[in-house]
Amino acid sequence: MHWRRTRTGSCDSMDIVLIAAVAANGVIGRGNGLPWRLKSDLQHFRAVTMGKPVVMGRKTFWSIGKPLQGRTTIVVSRDRNFAAPGIVVAPNLEAAFAAAHGDALRRGADEIVVAGGAEIYAQAIAAATRLAITEVHKTVAGEARFPPIDRNVWRETARDEHEPGADDDAAFAFVTYARATASRL
Ligand SMILES: NC(=O)c1ccc[n+]([C@@H]2O[C@H](COP(=O)([O-])OP(=O)(O)OC[C@H]3O[C@@H](n4cnc5c(N)ncnc54)[C@H](OP(=O)(O)O)[C@@H]3O)[C@@H](O)[C@H]2O)c1
Repeated sequence: MHWRRTRTGSCDSMDIVLIAAVAANGVIGRGNGLPWRLKSDLQHFRAVTMGKPVVMGRKTFWSIGKPLQGRTTIVVSRDRNFAAPGIVVAPNLEAAFAAAHGDALRRGADEIVVAGGAEIYAQAIAAATRLAITEVHKTVAGEARFPPIDRNVWRETARDEHEPGADDDAAFAFVTYARATASRL
């Protein structure tokens, strides 16, 4: 993934942030849905993404079912006929980041958020500058997983532990990772 270097040059300070809620066993989804109820995390997701371009895969978009209010929803799909009201469709991740970059500049946002799912996280982690992970303190069944977080590459910089709220299935922590080494780009 050479998008940041070729498109924007070395002075670009646009962060690419992967945001995900991840179970203790790495699971993020089951049956194209979330395998838990965590209202606190939905509120966190809204706060972190508001006013920014948000890149996601077509399956995650279907699971959400509508564009994200107050954000630009950029959906990656190989289906040339795919379209839905209120979203931007990109044919690959490079095009999605290019569209997101322009959108962020227009909005005055300083980062692009990548909101999954598993296929998109796996491809985008090489371009990411930060990971915003909600560690869900529970093991769940599911086929969609977050890619391994390589501790030689990623350094934990913040951790905020929470007991479950009234509408949360488990305790959780908001954890930030920054690159410990320069990005591969
Ligand atoms: N826990 C969390 O934070 C979180 C966040 C997001 C999602 N999820 C979960 O993750 C699961 C969905 O993940 P997923 O891996 O199945 O699907 P996904 O990553 O959301 O979407 C996959 C789709 O994206 C498109 N795509 C992927 N790579 C592409 C590329 N390089 N170029 C063009 N299009 C590309 C393809 O769409 P087409 O088939 O249209 O070509 C592909 O089928 C669900 O269970 C969801 O609830 C969890």
